[in-house]
Amino acid sequence: MEVMRIEGGQTLSGNISASGAKNAALPIFAATLLTEETCILENVPNLSDIWFMAQILQHLGAEVEQPDPTTWKITAGTIAHRAPYDLVRKMRASVCLMGPLAGRLKRAEISLPGGCVIGPRPIDMHLKGFAGLGMEVTVDKGYVFLNAEQASGNPIFLGGRHGSTVTGTANILMAAVLTPGETVIECAACEPEVVDLCNMLVQMGAEIFGIGSPTLTIRGVDRLGGCTYRILPDRIEAGTYIIAGSMAGENLTINDIRLSDLAALTDKLKEAGVPMQINSDNSITVSRSESPLKPVDVVTHPHPGFATDLQAQMSSLMSVTPGISIITEKIFPNRFMHVPELQRMGADIAIEGPNAIVKGQAGLSGAPVMASDLRASAALILAGLVAEGITWVLRIYHLDRGYDKIDDKLRAVGANIDRLPEKEMPNTQFELK
Ligand code: EPZ
Repeated sequence: MEVMRIEGGQTLSGNISASGAKNAALPIFAATLLTEETCILENVPNLSDIWFMAQILQHLGAEVEQPDPTTWKITAGTIAHRAPYDLVRKMRASVCLMGPLAGRLKRAEISLPGGCVIGPRPIDMHLKGFAGLGMEVTVDKGYVFLNAEQASGNPIFLGGRHGSTVTGTANILMAAVLTPGETVIECAACEPEVVDLCNMLVQMGAEIFGIGSPTLTIRGVDRLGGCTYRILPDRIEAGTYIIAGSMAGENLTINDIRLSDLAALTDKLKEAGVPMQINSDNSITVSRSESPLKPVDVVTHPHPGFATDLQAQMSSLMSVTPGISIITEKIFPNRFMHVPELQRMGADIAIEGPNAIVKGQAGLSGAPVMASDLRASAALILAGLVAEGITWVLRIYHLDRGYDKIDDKLRAVGANIDRLPEKEMPNTQFELK
């Protein structure tokens, strides 16, 4: 196992870039199953989740090649309809295989994904959508069985108690593009990653209207062709670096991004008084403020609201912003696994239901902390950048699921951060001085 060692107090300056978006690449990989022709995907991030999805596609029978580190060539000629538990359980996003398999093969047999640390992660809305397309939906022994022989286009409402569903919208979309008739998805997710998937499907010959809006109209076609598609920049990775710049930056420039996807974040940082210079829609320069920031309240919402995937990172920033800020998590109400670890570093945060009440203060102190999920891990790295002394982040495999070489990228702009074998963590670290 590896750990991340961070020595706080360094200043981050220079240029850092976002890689391609994990949450676009995963459904887009699944979408290659919709055609027997070759799909070439560019700007794919180098992440363990991507490798895992590639492994599942190969298991299903697709030919998968990687001509270069960020380009993948996938040809789903003859494919099977069943994805087993031992593959699916390791990555929730494999739920996105259901739509394309049901669309192309008219049947699918996929293990239920199970939950993860940020919540139970149900898929009832996905199943409701498939049933809305006239599919026979059976759940038995931990597997979902779909029979789409009689499927046809229909109006479908995909809203739940937390609003829209990102992978639910992707799933129904990928089934509907090859389902005869017209499907209208109401309360569709508007995340940029869903827009990216729609744009790729249209390139493959799909007929989709209302892209980027909560109402998606899909006219089913008989078949789809291959494509060459470039994945959009990862707004969550970019947002993580923008928050890093707000905490420890001196003219830190974040490039290869789409700021229009991050309006909710930049709006909040502006309210807090973070010095930002927008260079273009693809580049922003951020610095730590000379004077203390103002505490701000944040409520997470589906896009274009404040992204739940940036909530933990924002908690780190507010932990070192004097004053009281309330961070409300509306998408995954239990998504506070980072809080006890930030408390180990001295943060003063109280959880009241879906609210984190953060009493910001000047400084944090380095400590050994435990990563629990992808974005909580990022929040601990950010806190380590400004904490006094050394922070050791354990279980960083969580981080590697969604951040492409975050340690290399941060080190290149001045962070004192190293990835080490766990045995290098000195026991003395735990002895009280
Ligand atoms: C996607 O997850 C992302 N993952 C998540 O990113 C992200 O946090 C989430 O969208 C919200 O933006 C991928 O795209 C691979 P949802 P998804 O369906 O699609 C409830 C990361 O860190 N719900 O939009 O699984 C659900 O429990 C990851 O990169 C149902 O109740 O999220 C949640 O409360 C973490 N029934 C809310 O809706 C359903 O059938 C939104 O979930 C589906 C969802």
